[in-house]
Amino acid sequence: MFLLLSLKTSLEKSSSETAELLDLEEQLPWSRRRRRSRITKIEIRIGDLVLEVKVLTQTSETTFSYSFLALVCRRQRLQATLQSTNLISLKRNMENCTLITTLLISSASLVLYGLMRVVYVVWWRPKSLEKELRQQGIQGTSFNLLQFHGGDMRKMVKVSKETWSKPMSLNHHIAPYVLPSFHQMVQKYGKVSLSWIQSRPRLLLTDPELCRLILSDKSGHFIKPPVNPLVDLLQKGVSTLEGEKWAKRRKLITPAFHLENLKGMAPAFSSCCVDLINRWKNSITSSGTCEIDVALEFQKLAGDVIARTAFGSCFEEGKMIFELQNEQLVLVIEAFQSIYFPGLRFIPTKKNRRRYNIDKCKEQSGNDLTIEDIIEECKLFYFAGKETTANWLTWTMIVLSMHTNWQEKAREEVLRTCGNKVPDVENLNNLKIVSMILNEVLRLYPPVTAQQRHTIKKTNIGGMSIPSGVDIWLPTLFFHHDPEYWGDDAGEFKPERFAEGVSKATKDQQNVFYPFGWGPRFCLGQNFAMIEAKMALAMILQTFSFELSPSYTHSLFTLATLQPQHGAPIILHQL
Ligand code: HEM
Repeated sequence: MFLLLSLKTSLEKSSSETAELLDLEEQLPWSRRRRRSRITKIEIRIGDLVLEVKVLTQTSETTFSYSFLALVCRRQRLQATLQSTNLISLKRNMENCTLITTLLISSASLVLYGLMRVVYVVWWRPKSLEKELRQQGIQGTSFNLLQFHGGDMRKMVKVSKETWSKPMSLNHHIAPYVLPSFHQMVQKYGKVSLSWIQSRPRLLLTDPELCRLILSDKSGHFIKPPVNPLVDLLQKGVSTLEGEKWAKRRKLITPAFHLENLKGMAPAFSSCCVDLINRWKNSITSSGTCEIDVALEFQKLAGDVIARTAFGSCFEEGKMIFELQNEQLVLVIEAFQSIYFPGLRFIPTKKNRRRYNIDKCKEQSGNDLTIEDIIEECKLFYFAGKETTANWLTWTMIVLSMHTNWQEKAREEVLRTCGNKVPDVENLNNLKIVSMILNEVLRLYPPVTAQQRHTIKKTNIGGMSIPSGVDIWLPTLFFHHDPEYWGDDAGEFKPERFAEGVSKATKDQQNVFYPFGWGPRFCLGQNFAMIEAKMALAMILQTFSFELSPSYTHSLFTLATLQPQHGAPIILHQL
């Protein structure tokens, strides 16, 4: 429509300014009847396209009215000719004219649609989502075009870097330190707050009840947030699938984690732990002690366990995959924190080339499994199971070094239950104090500090109406440290709160313990991780007592999982 109007305007202009009057009246069959008619030649330029059109004009005292008589089109030059006697040709030419007009209208409509779509995505939609959320009393940062320049995300990274640049004092009040920008948002805006990732609104929900409702929702309206496709290089498989595909894959994988199957894996777990203990024993000096960065050691152990159970090989054989995966993790976190522009990932920058090469390397690493199996399983189990369990064990060693009374209690229980032999699954089930300690460490130092969802449909939940297209962040770390649910001693290490099990650990038995998630997507490897952690801790307690090295700095950060920033140097004393 817009184009038609401009075309008409340009016709009118051209005719008045450059039209050359051609007296072809006599050639026209009907010209005698329309004495005042004239043929006018006009030229219209659209870019490098030149339209030369001859039109029949009927003049009156004040107005021109045009009717197209003929058009013959070429790409660079379009020339209209009049065949006064050949009406068939006239008709054909009129069709050509219609074709050009249609083409012009279509391309103009496409351009217009694209423009409108951009305006809709970058401005109108975020603004209307913001309005919808604010109408419900939700506070937070406002959407503006600066969000595309990093906005809230950039601030978040800056605040985190600043906070993490200095160590914190040696205590367990870690929530404001680990998630500083989220902490500031809660202080400023309350339990539900709004911020932005480019044009996507992000709701930070720190109400555990709402969190449980969202995680257990089965409507399919809450999915895992769509990520920068570079993040996909790290992790595919069941944890990133949705709907029917997810249900099928989860059903397929679940039996592998049944207790009976895990019992069958016990020899693999114990032989990896024996390797760890022997390595540590070999490091003991003549004074009967040694200093070890247990963070690195537990990474090796967790990798070894997954290699032996999932890949059927030992850690050394799977090492290449794991090292590449570690490198990929750093590159992917960088991609995750950067602003995503579609297509940017295909630009062969040094980092993008490396990201794709790593993915290829993994495909080429020879192994009994099919390439697809390696990619899926490596990404899934290795990513989901290695970092998490390794960091859980690392924090346990740090915390038990800080609370040596609990270290003693746990050792006493292990020696009473298993003596000095390698524990079996039965023994592990009877380690109550060890379980309490491990749960309390998971509460204070959850390896997964926040879980995320994204709405794909407008959903009413817990009295809130969440529109489609909103990211939701559920900070497990905040729930685990909230005095409202855990009491005024929420920031203290008190394993006894788990003495009667997880369900009775909180005030009024409200369940706010989500280290392994909640609902249909809860962690598949929970029992796997528990066996591994118990086995390793029991064997360490049998062989060593331990304390924090003076070089340890209490400085935490999250790089997918919660980790000590400068490692975990621990002094071991062989018993
Ligand atoms: C301390 C150790 C671990 C912690 C804290 C942990 C935590 C979690 C959490 C919080 C989720 C839910 C994520 C969400 O809903 O968005 C999850 C999912 C998952 N975890 Fe773990 N995990 C641990 C160990 C493991 C291990 C050892 C494995 C496998 C060997 C594993 C495999 C998985 C899988 C496959 C999922 C995805 C389930 C699904 O989407 O259906 N995890 N884990």
